[in-house]
Amino acid sequence: MNKKMKIGIDKMAFATTNNYIDLRELAKVRGDEPDKYTIGIGQDQQAVVPPTQDIVTLGAAAADKLLTSEDRQRISTVILATESGIDNSKASAIYVKHLLGLSDFVRTVELKEACYSATAGIQFARGIVALNPQETVLVIAADIARYGLSTPGEVTQGAGAVAMLISQDPHVLALGQTSVSLTKDIMDFWRPLYATEAMVDGKYSTNVYIDFFKQTLTRYQQLTGRRLDDFTAILFHLPFTKMGKKALEAVLGERNDATAQRLRQALTASQVYSRQVGNLYTGSLYLGLMSYLQNGAVKAGDRLGLFSYGSGAEGEFYTGVVQPAFAANLSNVQSDLKKRQQVSIEDYEIAFNDQLGMNSADIQFDLSNDPAKFVLAGQKNHQRIYQRNDK
Ligand code: CAA
Repeated sequence: MNKKMKIGIDKMAFATTNNYIDLRELAKVRGDEPDKYTIGIGQDQQAVVPPTQDIVTLGAAAADKLLTSEDRQRISTVILATESGIDNSKASAIYVKHLLGLSDFVRTVELKEACYSATAGIQFARGIVALNPQETVLVIAADIARYGLSTPGEVTQGAGAVAMLISQDPHVLALGQTSVSLTKDIMDFWRPLYATEAMVDGKYSTNVYIDFFKQTLTRYQQLTGRRLDDFTAILFHLPFTKMGKKALEAVLGERNDATAQRLRQALTASQVYSRQVGNLYTGSLYLGLMSYLQNGAVKAGDRLGLFSYGSGAEGEFYTGVVQPAFAANLSNVQSDLKKRQQVSIEDYEIAFNDQLGMNSADIQFDLSNDPAKFVLAGQKNHQRIYQRNDK
C-alpha cells in the first residue's frame, strides 16, 4: 500500500425512526426522578421503534441518503454491522443491497460484536480500499437497543443507523495508521439466541468500558508518542451520554488546562444527537462523530481520537484527521430529528411489545402510520417482507 494514500470516511448519513418519547415523561411513569434520566444518565429523548422498522429498513434509509449513482457503481462491498440481526444465517446486508438497488456484483456480509463491530467494518473496509483503491465500501451500523420495559437499562434504549462510505481521498475523515484493539472474554452484556432483550451487568459494564478506554489509549500513546494535547476531540461510544463523560474524566482527572477544556467542550458537542435518540449500539460512536462535526468547533486538519467499545468485550482506540469538505458530506441530522413525532409512554409500550421478534406466524403490519421510505410489511412463510413505501 502507498503509505501516502489517504483512506477513510468519505460520506456519512444517519436515519432513525419517526417517533420518540420524552424521557422526563418516562421517568414520571416509572416513579423515578426526571433529573436522574436527563442529568444522571444524560438522555432527554428516545427513539420509538414501530413494528414496521428494523435494522434492514433503518440501514437502507441511512444509506439511501448518501448514495449518488456514481457511488452505487463504485461500491464493491456492503458490510452491515449489528447486534440486532434479523436472521441467524442470512446477512441483513443482502436485504439492504436489494432495497438500495445495488449491482448484483457486490460482496455482502454482516458483522457482529455487540457495539463494536462497525469499527471492525471500517478497518476491514480500509484494507479492501488499500488493496483496490478504485473500490468503495459501504459500511452500515444499524441497531435497535432493547433492554425491556421497566428495567434499569430501559432509559438507555434507542435505535437508528449510520451509513458510511469508505474510500480513498475521503471527504470527511482520513484514518490514522495506528489503531489499538483489546479483547477479553467478559460477561458484561450479552444476548442469548432465545432472547430479544439484552442481559446486562450494568455497573460492571461501565467499569469495563472505562478500563478498556484507559488501556487502549495508553498503548496508543506508547506506540505513537502522541498526548491528549494532540487531539482536538476524543469521541466515544455513547450507550448513554454520561458514559462518555465518565470515560473522559477518568483520564483528565483534575486537569482544567486548555486541552482539558477543549476535550470537555468537544464531548458536549458529540453528545447532542445521542441525547435525542438513545443508544444505537454499534452506530453510537459514529452518531457522536456526526454530532461533533455538526455542533463542535471543528476545522480541517484537526486530529480526532475515537474510542469504540463493544461488550463481551472489545475496545479499539484509533484516530482520524478532519478533511476540508467534511461539512458538505454529512446528512442533516438535526433537521431529520425535528421532523419526528412525540408519542405517549403508553404508545411506546405497545410498539415495544409489537416487534416481530421471535414470532414465527404469518403477519401483515399496518403501514399507514410509518412514513419511512423502507418498511417491513410483515412476515410470510418465515420470510420477512420488505418494501419501498411510496407514500
Ligand atoms: N438527579 C441527578 N442525578 C441522579 C439522580 C437525580 N435525581 N438520581 C440518580 N442520579 C445519578 C446517579 O448518581 C448516577 O450517577 P453516576 O453514574 O455518575 O454515579 C446515575 O444517575 C445513574 O443512577 P444509578 O447508578 O442509580 O442508575 P441505575 O442503577 O438505574 O443504572 C445503568 C444505570 C447501569 C447505566 C443502567 O441504565 C444500565 O444497565 N444500562 C445499560 C448498560 C450500559 O449502557 N452500559 C454501558 C457500558 S457497556 C456498553 O457501552 C455497551 C453497550 O452499548 C451496552
